[in-house]
Amino acid sequence: MVKKLLSVLKGDAQSPPPVWLMRQAGRYLPEYRALRANAPDFVQFCLNPELAVEITLQPVRRFKLDAAILFADILLVPHALGQKLWFAEGEGPRLDPITDAAGIASLRYDAAKLEPVMQTIKGVRAAMAADPAMVNAALIGFAGAPWTVATYMIEGKGGTDHENVRKLAWREPATFARLMDVLVDSTSRYLIAQADAGAEALQLFESWAATVPAGLFEAAVLNPTARIVANVKAKHPGLPIIGFPRGAGGWLTRYAKVTGVDGIGIDQMTDIEEVARSIDQEMCAPAPAHDANDGRAVFRPGVRPNKKVALQGNLDPILLLQGGEAMRAEAKRLVAAMKGKPFIFNLGHGVMQPTPPDHVAELVAAIRE
Ligand code: CP3
Repeated sequence: MVKKLLSVLKGDAQSPPPVWLMRQAGRYLPEYRALRANAPDFVQFCLNPELAVEITLQPVRRFKLDAAILFADILLVPHALGQKLWFAEGEGPRLDPITDAAGIASLRYDAAKLEPVMQTIKGVRAAMAADPAMVNAALIGFAGAPWTVATYMIEGKGGTDHENVRKLAWREPATFARLMDVLVDSTSRYLIAQADAGAEALQLFESWAATVPAGLFEAAVLNPTARIVANVKAKHPGLPIIGFPRGAGGWLTRYAKVTGVDGIGIDQMTDIEEVARSIDQEMCAPAPAHDANDGRAVFRPGVRPNKKVALQGNLDPILLLQGGEAMRAEAKRLVAAMKGKPFIFNLGHGVMQPTPPDHVAELVAAIRE
């Protein structure tokens, strides 16, 4: 039997739709907090396969979700590139910021540092195959997309307007392009290794697409994403890839057209039905030439097999936090609106930390009712 999530990513509709949630593993689950309490260093926690397998499986087991997402973090790539990374208690991620071309030139991707992640993937696949309650769930691997990862590498932390990244990208386009090249290369290698280890689908988190100025969108988002998709598909042609360009609004149809992704994550600010309509229309029109060719493998628009792009989303995480009838009604509206289309139920962003776990169970029941 083809797993529900993978069937939708091939362009089929499923009723009820498959469901998983971004940040489905994490601090809102008491069983996560129990394991985290004994592991003060978050990076080492992510790189402990025994713990990471268990944390990946916790929400799948508890809520019978249609997918597991690898427990890891998008900032493990800068870690493997040699940048100092730590998680300050209550402050989120911190990195020793990169400020100039010399800093970028010193980055070297050390694949061995992320080998534990591959052990986690193997462990999760084996555990899911052996458990009748999880045997139909698919394992999603992931990485951050280059712009989003670059914002952390250059700002040194989250929660900013990304002024320093934007300054660098406008002032020194060649230096910025060099950083994008480094991230395209390392992220492609990381994702190919995840697929080799047994990831059945991949998601690229472009969590900060909203801070990319329009004049840089091609160089910062479309081109690097298209190159990663092409690199991964060159090695794993059938492996589906979901892109999640959060806050990309008006760019979504172009993103669908030129990046080669099989599915697109939609945030809660965006009208998912309108996106479905405009992508359907656009995909039938001939694609313009895309000038991403710099000698590497590049996805060529028009080569895309004629199939529908799956959409994933986009319940407001606040509704999950609050639960109750408003959450159930909105979930049912979304399912009804996307009926007959390749659709994966998810949130518009990650599960919020104070969310009561029972609300997740109620949400899943409402979707499957
Ligand atoms: O369940 C899952 O979704 C899988 C695991 C996962 C984590 N991070 C675990 C994590 C995934 C897919 C991510 C992706 C990630 N990490 C993103 C993109 C998605 C998004 O939310 O936009 C980003 C931007 C990061 C960077 C990052 N890691 C931040 C900003 C933080 C701090 C979050 C906070 O609220 O403190 C992290 C830490 C992190 N990554 C936690 C988890 C479970 C919490 C760490 C803890 O236990 O203290």
